[in-house]
Amino acid sequence: MGNVTREKFATKFGVMMAMAGSAIGLGNMWRFPYLTAENGGAAFIVIYLFLMFAVSIPTMITEYIIGRRTHANAVSAMTILGFPKLKFIGLIAVFSAICILGFYCVVGGWAVKYLVDSVLFKFDSPTADYSDIFNGFITSPLRPLIYTIIFLALTAFVTKGGVRSGIEKFSKIIMSLLFVIIILMAIRSVTLPGASEGLKYLLVPDFSKINGDAIRNALGQSFFTLGLGSGTILIYGSYVSDKENLTNTAYLTSILDTVFAIVAGIAIIPAVFAVAATNGIAPEINAGPGLVFITLPNIFSSMPMGQIIAILFFIALLFAALTSSVSMFESLNAFYMESRGLKRSKAVLRSYIICIIPGIICSLSQGILSNIKIIGLNIFDFLDKLSANVLMTSACLLLLIFTGWIMKKDDVMDELSSHGSIKAPRWVLNTVYALIKYVAPAGILAMIITTILL
Ligand code: TRP
Repeated sequence: MGNVTREKFATKFGVMMAMAGSAIGLGNMWRFPYLTAENGGAAFIVIYLFLMFAVSIPTMITEYIIGRRTHANAVSAMTILGFPKLKFIGLIAVFSAICILGFYCVVGGWAVKYLVDSVLFKFDSPTADYSDIFNGFITSPLRPLIYTIIFLALTAFVTKGGVRSGIEKFSKIIMSLLFVIIILMAIRSVTLPGASEGLKYLLVPDFSKINGDAIRNALGQSFFTLGLGSGTILIYGSYVSDKENLTNTAYLTSILDTVFAIVAGIAIIPAVFAVAATNGIAPEINAGPGLVFITLPNIFSSMPMGQIIAILFFIALLFAALTSSVSMFESLNAFYMESRGLKRSKAVLRSYIICIIPGIICSLSQGILSNIKIIGLNIFDFLDKLSANVLMTSACLLLLIFTGWIMKKDDVMDELSSHGSIKAPRWVLNTVYALIKYVAPAGILAMIITTILL
């Protein structure tokens, strides 16, 4: 089905790296380490893995199936499958990608700025107030705006090269470097004196911390980190050849993503504990952006080889953010190219304009626009909540219902078995199908209901 002249990824490795690039991003570098440490360490990881296998991976496979079956973007896909009225599901997904990119490119911009600063050896004073420096920067009107514009331009530039010579080539190089850097950092972190306390804090299971919130956090995190419900898996899936084993790729991507997140946690948390112990102060683990933009510069300033590690870290952060923003941006590009008939270069320009507007507003919402509040949140936080709690979740649920209950089972099975070329036992495919049809939608519904009621 679909358009035969459409570009495809060239190699299996390329597919894996593009998928891993989409999954591994800011979510792994600051949310996972923090959430794990706060919600019971290894106990949280166990719950996280369980939900990932039961709910998130089946959801990922669903997006993949629709993308590969139609070789089209999220909006056109519904029409190609014979349900033009359900185009709105694709539109929710694309809209979700725009909202996420809106705040994602702001943080990406901060990563660019911190990389520049680390190259200028600015993180060299243990007595500097990095919290003040960070807040001063993000609340100023012009500087973060310029970095946001640069970050989004880098993203657009990668996608302008197309699927093979843009996205695939970039992901292969950048992701390989990223793995090397993060492993080096983890080794440095655990070999610092006093690191073992941090390792314990991160990993020792504490089941008493597992409650409804921890479970919802685990599911929300796995959705964000796998990049579900925004058409990004769908669009990458649509560039995959008909022979590729979708289920395997989905599992491998998720495993790589989790391993990366744990290694990133090991690169960060033990180092924070080690430096705090050396300085005789209590370790302070900030939530969210504060962890990488306040806690870490502080750590780098008093850690052996800290200046070099800082450069490596911010390169890694920028790489991780870029390969993720590329996937969201491409979801929008593909919409403009296929549903609106634009050439790639025009589509890229259009996507840039559409995304930079929320980007600019989000950047300003940290400073001069901070008094504009929607349901008590500034625009940055509002877009974060809107996309995570409403758009991504509903797109995922609708896509699962579509695949499990509206698409013909034979068609779904045909994709799962890559048109019969994969000789997996029938029960394996049936299990995946049952997860898509029953388990994953039930899991998402449970999350929605408990969020509303609790
Ligand atoms: N997964 C990426 C991260 O962890 C972000 C991302 C890429 C994303 N594509 C997405 C998030 C689609 C939500 C939806 O940072």
